[in-house]
Amino acid sequence: MDFSNPDKLALLSPFELKDALIQTAKKSNQLMLNAGRGNPNFLATTPRHGFFQFGLFAMTEAERSYIYMKDVGGFPQREGIESRFEIFAKQHATVPGIRFIEAAVSYVRDQLGLSAGDFIYEMCEAILACNYPVPDRMLTLSEKIVAQYIHKEMIGTHPFVGNFDMYAVEGGTAAMTYLFASLKANHLIKEGDTIALGMPIFTPYIEIPLLNDYKLVELAIDAPQSNNWQFTKKELDKLLDPKVKAFFLVNPSNPPSVKIDDKTLAYIVEIVKKRPDLIILTDDVYATFADDFVSLFALCPYNTILVYSFSKYFGATGWRMGVVATHENNVLDAKIAKLPESLRKELDERYHSITTEPRKLKFIDRLVADSRTVALNHTAGLSTPVQAQMSLFSLFSLMDEAGSYKAEMKRIVLRRKEALYRELGLPMQHDPNSVRYYHLLDMESLAEQMHGKEFSQWLLKRLKPNEALFRLAEETGVILLPGRGFGTSHPSGRVSLANLNEYDYANIGRAIRSMASEFYEVFLTEKGKSKPKAVDKVNIAGTAASKAANKAANKAANKAASKVASKTSKAKSSKKSK
Ligand SMILES: Cc1ncc(COP(=O)(O)O)c(C=O)c1O
Repeated sequence: MDFSNPDKLALLSPFELKDALIQTAKKSNQLMLNAGRGNPNFLATTPRHGFFQFGLFAMTEAERSYIYMKDVGGFPQREGIESRFEIFAKQHATVPGIRFIEAAVSYVRDQLGLSAGDFIYEMCEAILACNYPVPDRMLTLSEKIVAQYIHKEMIGTHPFVGNFDMYAVEGGTAAMTYLFASLKANHLIKEGDTIALGMPIFTPYIEIPLLNDYKLVELAIDAPQSNNWQFTKKELDKLLDPKVKAFFLVNPSNPPSVKIDDKTLAYIVEIVKKRPDLIILTDDVYATFADDFVSLFALCPYNTILVYSFSKYFGATGWRMGVVATHENNVLDAKIAKLPESLRKELDERYHSITTEPRKLKFIDRLVADSRTVALNHTAGLSTPVQAQMSLFSLFSLMDEAGSYKAEMKRIVLRRKEALYRELGLPMQHDPNSVRYYHLLDMESLAEQMHGKEFSQWLLKRLKPNEALFRLAEETGVILLPGRGFGTSHPSGRVSLANLNEYDYANIGRAIRSMASEFYEVFLTEKGKSKPKAVDKVNIAGTAASKAANKAANKAANKAASKVASKTSKAKSSKKSK
């Protein structure tokens, strides 16, 4: 890719622009601090220990058959499996993960009221991966267990009538891909339709509808920073227009990382009462970082498709693990049933190879079939070991009644944000709805808080799109993603609080502060004002551990200062020579 043309770079998705920023940082031999990635650098250990121990037990099951052959085993056997599991667990009682899987089996039997033997058998078969995923949508007990987890985290104590179906998918990524395709294939959205997007939003939700596969019209429903990243009533009222077919949103949002507050949720519920035909897609992959989260799926189950991913909360991006959920009674099936007869006949044709009664096929089962181009429905479904680990993640969270894992997750990201603000030298605003997985640094607001309004206005006019991010990468090695790519109205940088260590966020804060100070010097020089006392390098609280890092950041800052100065003088002299 050619990274040299800034105008072309401005068209790139923030995730692709990241590569250009990385190249820039590498070229300047800076120690790179890549805060552009949403991939967490922490992970849940206990349910992974559990997976491996269950795997070893599954191997003992496989090796009970065909002993007379070398390297060959057979399927686990259902009969007596519970007793054999208990013996295995007693024999390995002190091994990490054993206590967890014993507890998991007990929870499945004693709390969920499911058959322990069936569960152990399903887990063994799933981990050995010796069968196609059957049922293809989701393994039977896995669906029940993961549904409990989803209920706990997305619905909580909110009243919820009826059941919901789930489709286990390869992460939020697959969920999005499959959903767009199936909504279109089933005429629930068609070319030229308007879909509303809750902005800011994870970039692919902005990019996919514009592809020539969909050609949808987008309508922004803004949640501005001035309203604490909550949708305003005026913006939400846009949903009352019947031409809006669907509302896609991320809650808690990406990048502001703020969950929708109760008042706004209640207003959306009111709107949905007036728009019973509205399809809502709520992508709640960050919900588990919040306390007492209530999804729109809980509040408007008839209208809402839920997307959840295990990637972030369990540090499991490589597993490719997520679910799509729809209520058993939903607007999607109702709309399909009301399509004109010609379209229904067309859909009968589409799905006739997988059922004799295509008209009874639920949307969620259409989603499974469409994910494998219908004709490969019989081999559809998520890889079974992934479903086994998903069940164990879910049980881990269900059994953690004290919520200690959640508390640790929340503490990790909070401390990183505190470190960032400490070194930015600015107060950290408290927002009870913030889940702090990401943070948006608004350039105007930062500049104003640091050096006043006149400076911030000067800076905004002065910088080209993404220039601050490239300079930051080049001069300090810090990589942030442009907020604009996520639909923010202000120039800003997205900091992921998930993928670096606390001291790195301190360094990032310091680097940004130094760069702002350098720009401020240029501003003062240009305006003919007196020079400030010194670049603010001393305002750095330092433990012994952070001192070395401070030194590095200051070195970077000094280098950057001289670069900014030389760039400015070069610019001036070239102007003069012209
Ligand atoms: C809102 C949102 N949805 C979906 C995804 C993709 O998640 P997954 O890793 O499960 O594919 C992301 C990843 O950053 C995200 O932020």
